[in-house]
Amino acid sequence: MLSIEPIFIIGAGLMGKGIALDLALRGCHVMITDDDKEVLTHASRHIAELFHSLEELDYPFPEGVSDADPIERISIKDDCREAARADLVIEAISEDLEAKQRLYARLVPTLKPGAVLATNTSSLALEELRKGLRRPKILLGTHFFNPPPLMPLVETFAGEGGDPARLARVNDFLRSIGKEPVEVRRPLRGLIANRLQFALLREAIALVEAGVAGPEDVDRVVRFSFGRRLAALGPFANADLGGLHTYLRIFRYLLPAWGDGKEPELLTRLVANGHLGAASGRGFLNWRQKNLEDLTRRRDGILADLLRRDQERPMEKECS
Ligand code: NAI
Repeated sequence: MLSIEPIFIIGAGLMGKGIALDLALRGCHVMITDDDKEVLTHASRHIAELFHSLEELDYPFPEGVSDADPIERISIKDDCREAARADLVIEAISEDLEAKQRLYARLVPTLKPGAVLATNTSSLALEELRKGLRRPKILLGTHFFNPPPLMPLVETFAGEGGDPARLARVNDFLRSIGKEPVEVRRPLRGLIANRLQFALLREAIALVEAGVAGPEDVDRVVRFSFGRRLAALGPFANADLGGLHTYLRIFRYLLPAWGDGKEPELLTRLVANGHLGAASGRGFLNWRQKNLEDLTRRRDGILADLLRRDQERPMEKECS
């Protein structure tokens, strides 16, 4: 593990506690605080419950991490004073621009010269959060997903005026503990995951509103078809496996239904140049550098695992 310790987390709500446990499971020493004393009183118990629920799931504990109880690597602090000795401070307080700005104004002058302050915000722009801040470049974004110990991705971003060297250090650290950081290279509302997720939700709502199917059936369509494949393949790998000439034809047929009628240029260009996906060696991705057989085996393994789960616990029972 790259050394970026100790880590101090501010906000012991849903995400703060999850991130604390996630990092502790991966061998990090973590301090955590909250300004609500009631929350703080129960934080240890909640984190322990979270940990035990993972044990019941037969959680694949990261390899090479000390056998010591991960909970013992987490200490609850009454206030932010000890953030002054942290290399990395993760802010996971409520999604409130002014509350975050007020916290930073107090906190940043106390932080070590090389420290990183990382916000877990899901929607606020770093440029807004940095307004009026001394040492604005130390603020970066690290967007964890809920529940953190089960979700490998962390979207990381520096926005306009962030420090690329600090961001690179955070990415290296996250990789070294087995997380999957993905850098969002330009300021973007919603980052990558929420842009994709909400585009799907918007279309799902439109289908329900148009009376095509009810919400349960739309959910079933996703869960029992492409949603399963997405666990193994992103949209680009998926399209490359399907064949881009076919995808372009489908796009052309569907475009009028979305109203804007604009063909995605990148897709048109790839097809025009004969880059049709995995079968031709290049599509959105370069398949000469990938092992197609390994990937399809992995995809099929995941699909078979899900089928087994369906047989053990049919969907109807899960919902009742
Ligand atoms: P939450 O409401 O569960 O927890 C926030 C905690 O921050 C509360 O316990 C509150 O007492 C504490 N707090 C507020 N102001 C504080 C201050 N000045 N100093 C110390 N503690 C303070 O919120 P949640 O869901 O954990 O979200 C935290 C952040 O993570 C937000 O920015 C949110 O947008 C982001 N996020 C949330 C996700 C989710 O699924 N809930 C997913 C990814 C990001």
